Amino acid sequence: MSAAREPSVSVLLDPDWAAGSLVQDVLRGLSSHPRTLPPKWLYDDAGSALFDEITRLPEYYPYAAERSILEAHAHEIVEASGATTLIELGSGTSDKSRILLDAFVQQGLERFAPVDVSEQTLRDAAAMIAQRYPGLEVEAVVGDFTLHLAQLPRGGRRTVAFLGGTIGNLYREERAAFLGALADVLEPGDSLLLGTDLVKSADRLIAAYDDERGVTREFVLNVLRVLNRELDADFDLDGFAYVPFWDPHMERMDLRLRAEMPQRVTIAGADLVLDLASGEELRVEISTKFRVSKIAAELEAAGLDVTRVWTDENADFALTLATKA
Ligand code: SAH
Ligand code: TRP
Repeated sequence: MSAAREPSVSVLLDPDWAAGSLVQDVLRGLSSHPRTLPPKWLYDDAGSALFDEITRLPEYYPYAAERSILEAHAHEIVEASGATTLIELGSGTSDKSRILLDAFVQQGLERFAPVDVSEQTLRDAAAMIAQRYPGLEVEAVVGDFTLHLAQLPRGGRRTVAFLGGTIGNLYREERAAFLGALADVLEPGDSLLLGTDLVKSADRLIAAYDDERGVTREFVLNVLRVLNRELDADFDLDGFAYVPFWDPHMERMDLRLRAEMPQRVTIAGADLVLDLASGEELRVEISTKFRVSKIAAELEAAGLDVTRVWTDENADFALTLATKA
């Protein structure tokens, strides 16, 4: 038996990234209306563990739906992609990657490059993948997919997987910027495999983001813990209610925390004193839901041609493969 090669890990986030970039995000976000906190700060070690728990909740259908598409169509995906390198953005625990990798390695995949901001989660996942697929080069990248696309591994034919509906956590302008930047760094024949949650009844959507056990609430509140720790802030977590709602015009879930009483919060590390009125809301995350036509339009606008679209049985979720011309 051949020994697994150690995964390589390159760290593109500079050591002060968390501090510097968090301060900027906090200052910009908290001065907008509604006040906003950017979602990548949800995923410290505790946040990544809570997200992992979310994926196992019965109410959180997107996870099982996307998995079922991968299980049913991995071989078609691999054939249509023809990639020798699989890059995965926001790979987290690389749980779903394994379904793709099982099919890809049979077709001569040489390299897997998972990319995530959550360093320890990524390191653990990369080690697990290297163990499981001896012979596969594993090049993990600790990086931010809104900043570091130009530094993704090059060479060979590449497919970039972006699963979990994570693209829906970006605002429309951010999605356009992201897709444009990605299209710029892809070579002709390279492709994007994009996972998107689809519009459905408000009841099911709300349940998916407001589970009975309160795991999602804990996950969203965790952003305040990150601020308390990283920026020496004094948010009182008990002073906030979790308010998830469906915005039918924007076709997105809007996940907020509402101050239950007037609060003065000091965020020492950002040199900011925040006075929150009773009932004032902080938006922590959006989760945009798509229609197949809208996904195609956004991809085509970025210069990516839709090759195939797969959905699950209930058409809850879509996987789209788009190729750089
Ligand atoms: N792909 C997995 C995990 C989705 S959760 C799945 O489908 O289940 C979103 C993941 O993206 C988390 O692991 C989080 O740490 C990562 N992430 C969020 N914002 C990011 C950013 N700007 N750059 C890189 N990774 C990011
Ligand atoms: N990409 C996931 C989604 O939009 C992230 C997510 C799942 C999430 N549950 C959440 C983000 C709860 C914030 C709160 O579905």
